[in-house]
Amino acid sequence: SILIVDFGSQVTQLIARRVREAGVYSEIAPFNAAAEAFERMKPSGIILSGGPSSVTWADSPRAPQHFFDAGIPVLGICYGQQTMMEQLGGKVEGGEGGEFGRAFIEITGACKLFDGLWKEGETHQVWMSHGDKVTSLADGFEIVAKSEGAPCAIVANEAKRFYAMQFHPEVVHTPDGARLIANFVRHVCGCAGDWTMAEFRATKIAEIREQVGEGRVICGLSGGVDSAVAAVLIHEAIGDQLTCVFVDHGLMRLNEAEQVVTLFRQHYGINLVHVDASEMFLGGLAGVTDPEQKRKFIGKAFIDLFEEEARKIGGAEFLAQGTLYPDVIESVSFTGGPSVTIKSHHNVGGLPERMNMKLVEPLRELFKDEVRVLGRELGLPEIFVGRHPFPGPGLAIRIPGEVTQERCDILRKADAIYLEEIRNAGLYDAIWQAFAVLLPVRTVGVMGDGRTYDSVCALRAVTSTDGMTADIYPFDAAFLSRVATRIINEVKGINRVVYDYTSKPPGTIEWE
Ligand code: XMP
Repeated sequence: SILIVDFGSQVTQLIARRVREAGVYSEIAPFNAAAEAFERMKPSGIILSGGPSSVTWADSPRAPQHFFDAGIPVLGICYGQQTMMEQLGGKVEGGEGGEFGRAFIEITGACKLFDGLWKEGETHQVWMSHGDKVTSLADGFEIVAKSEGAPCAIVANEAKRFYAMQFHPEVVHTPDGARLIANFVRHVCGCAGDWTMAEFRATKIAEIREQVGEGRVICGLSGGVDSAVAAVLIHEAIGDQLTCVFVDHGLMRLNEAEQVVTLFRQHYGINLVHVDASEMFLGGLAGVTDPEQKRKFIGKAFIDLFEEEARKIGGAEFLAQGTLYPDVIESVSFTGGPSVTIKSHHNVGGLPERMNMKLVEPLRELFKDEVRVLGRELGLPEIFVGRHPFPGPGLAIRIPGEVTQERCDILRKADAIYLEEIRNAGLYDAIWQAFAVLLPVRTVGVMGDGRTYDSVCALRAVTSTDGMTADIYPFDAAFLSRVATRIINEVKGINRVVYDYTSKPPGTIEWE
């Protein structure tokens, strides 16, 4: 295994991810808890992360000094490089200006990290983000790569198997970075590379059992992949000590609510409380047209109902959530202990504090695509695992203007036709999110010699990697006209279909 010492970089989890991708188990420990993790893990190698501090500051963090005497390989990244040099007797100075973003390094020597990858004399793209730089090497090190702004872009002490780099190999903007990390953990540290999601599953199950003991756990299901994977994993660990609560706001896509209930009750045999609250939600939404007011009402009603159910169930001290790594912002304070800030899950924001429950969050280290792999590992059907993201407030924010039962039904039909055509065309997985929007605009049409005066439906489809930015999906004209024709023919209440051609930014993915 590999111990990753966290100095507070925003991308430390990406190091862990790259190590997982190389088939090796790792754990991240904040620098001030690293010695303890080291004792427990007896790792085959150590990676020191980047961080926001400067080693030139009085109280900036350090790696436990004995890590360098343990006889195992150490890789320092960015701040990790600097503290490593300083701790081993080299020198680091505040650079003027520093280097941020894309940079090119020239390979000036050989080392085991480059095996099968880089050779002397080559130039490679990397991602830099540093103000300080190493100005004097620690004993036994030599420079094996340099860049304009970093004379010590990569330094190596082959005898001790110590390596340190000024740039970030863990980010995608260092194209060979994942292979450098794989070389470190497998060639240098000698890890086997046979760790898989199956092992993650087993490890997490053991952890959940240990955390929960004989206690009871409540888990909110949203119909999305994250909460579903979390619930199935926890159920595997503790069986009937888990109760799932599905607050059904009646704003799901066609047949989705039934699918959730069937899958969890019948297929997995999970205790599931299905709270059918569609009337209550529609009642509360009557007359509401402002998007933020819709969100506020739905969010609050959701939490109230969930809390009420939890109270009825009674006796649960744990709340399970499908929080993923991107939902978690971890930071390490410069002088004191690590501080952790959690951005709560959209749908249950503020719940843990309000309910005074302990959290069970088995997916906290994973990224979305890894959760999907785990979901498949747990046998969740593809239709669940591969599902496009769906917003907590559901169809309410896809019906600009007032939300009514009738408009929900119209939208559900149009949306189902659109998604069916996308699946039939084999495009579903190439698209991040696709959905129909029902506009509060009526236009004139003609059908069968008669005049129609009905609503407009807008179709949206975007590609994205994280939902932060998005581009429109370029359907061909034949596809769009097939969908438009089907919707107008089959859905009463819609007589015109338009395609949304707006990227994000400047648009957002949802219309509200
Ligand atoms: P936007 O529309 O902001 O959406 O570009 C980015 C991603 O977030 C989803 N989204 C939401 N998810 N509650 C949620 O749980 C919300 O209120 C909400 N608003 C947007 C959206 O579907 C997209 O994936």
